[in-house]
Amino acid sequence: MRVAAGEAPGAPWWRDAGIYHVYVRSFADADGDGLGDLPGVRSRLAYVAGLGVDAIWLNPFYPSPQADAGYDVADYRDVDPRFGTLADFDELVGDAHGLGLRVIVDLVPNHTSGEHPWFRAALAAAPGGAERGRYLFRDGRGPGGGAPPNDWTSTFGGPAWTRVTEPDGSPGQWYLHLFAPEQPDLDWTNSEVRAEFESILRFWLDRGVDGFRIDVAHGLAKDPAMPHLAGRFGPGLAQVHHPHWDRDEVHEVYRAWRRVGDAYPGGRTFVAEAWVHDPAQLARYLRPDELHTAFNFNFLLAPWDAKAVRATVDQSIEALAGVGAPPTWVLSNHDVTRTVTRYGGGAEGLRRARAAALLMLSLPGGAYVYQGEELGLPEVTDLPGEVRQDPTFRRTGGAELGRDGCRVPLPWSGDEPPFGFGPDGTWLPQPADWADLTVARQAADPGSVLSLYRAALRLRRQLPALGDGTLAWVEAGEDVLAFRREPGFGCVVNLGDEPTDRPAEVPADATVLLASGPLGAGGQLPTATAVWYTVTA
Ligand code: NOJ
Repeated sequence: MRVAAGEAPGAPWWRDAGIYHVYVRSFADADGDGLGDLPGVRSRLAYVAGLGVDAIWLNPFYPSPQADAGYDVADYRDVDPRFGTLADFDELVGDAHGLGLRVIVDLVPNHTSGEHPWFRAALAAAPGGAERGRYLFRDGRGPGGGAPPNDWTSTFGGPAWTRVTEPDGSPGQWYLHLFAPEQPDLDWTNSEVRAEFESILRFWLDRGVDGFRIDVAHGLAKDPAMPHLAGRFGPGLAQVHHPHWDRDEVHEVYRAWRRVGDAYPGGRTFVAEAWVHDPAQLARYLRPDELHTAFNFNFLLAPWDAKAVRATVDQSIEALAGVGAPPTWVLSNHDVTRTVTRYGGGAEGLRRARAAALLMLSLPGGAYVYQGEELGLPEVTDLPGEVRQDPTFRRTGGAELGRDGCRVPLPWSGDEPPFGFGPDGTWLPQPADWADLTVARQAADPGSVLSLYRAALRLRRQLPALGDGTLAWVEAGEDVLAFRREPGFGCVVNLGDEPTDRPAEVPADATVLLASGPLGAGGQLPTATAVWYTVTA
């Protein structure tokens, strides 16, 4: 199948897409430097297409000092030589389209790299100059301006302000960075900033990309008064009236971007990375003239508990129905502890992760699968400090391990590292026991996590009941989630705990299509197990 240049009749593709999240530096390494790259991705596209997904999302591959694994972009219109060239990118897009895969790239608009020409110019300019006006420079407080302008903190630990040395050598102004100091925040009230990003969108749209994942989509607008937080807000997800998260002003930016995307044929799309807790607030990003989809992080964060999961599913569906947008489910990504480990680790964590996959892939809307999730990879928790690269680790003095444990390069084949990842080495060490988890090993095993994902993604494509649409819950007991989707599909997930909770019932007239684990005698569903079934009307 080829991706059509125009939109096919019927629902737009992004309303129920299965999208595979490629963390480029850890996917496949073609040139042998231990870091994944675009030619590596290209060499493995057939694997991705074979999973039965509709698109890939690529994490940032732009020129970058890599202070935050590429989320510190020095040039938004090129490819970092470590990851390849623009020609490699074009070839990758061509091949992906040829295999029926659309391509979503990552856009990082909240901050640039400190090495971006704009920030270098800002440092070389005098306070108050136009070059500083693209960022958020402020005078410090207290005697000599020696204290930061306010008490905001960086997501990676420590203050959100860094003081610069002025060109004349004197201690100078401070600039805002909600992430690492190497990631200065842009000022989105500046018209030059807005124009530049619209131009960057067009640059990649002209190269044929099908969409953008918007980094920190809830962070672009800041309260111009820059008030102290003064302990008024807890850490974590965005909260109402926060001075720098989820402010109303961000929505104008996305309305403008939507106009840019809509001017291109083929259903170009935006997905928001917005850590916004309130589903009604999140839905505002998906109003008809704004973005298309947004990751549902409440679902990802929900504990293994039937009531909690059902509540987040219901709240999301209801809030998004109000704006006509489809939900977008996600269980893992390159920023969070891998699912198997989050659900308790070991055999039980794996059973839950398998069950969660069937739940996610049968809910109404779209779903993202993070590379390695389809292999049931666990978090690597014992990486030595000296190999860790996430700035969180360093900035918290090791108090937080950071995100490297979910970013370890994929095991493809063979019995020892680098497990076919590339010709030589891996930027983070792979555990030796991943020999049992390689793609090659799992592809040959019908009981593997990979086989489960493949079967589920294919059924998702085949069954008219799956994808976009609605669900109807069926009451099946306190620890059980059961729902029907028409025509004729049902899903039951037993979220109970051994040994106290009971097995769940699968309807007597059901034909089981797929189960995440063995069923009990009499077809009952053990705890931490999910089943898909059909019924004939
Ligand atoms: C979210 C990205 O997913 C994460 O990896 C990054 O560190 C921050 N945004 C800052 O860009």
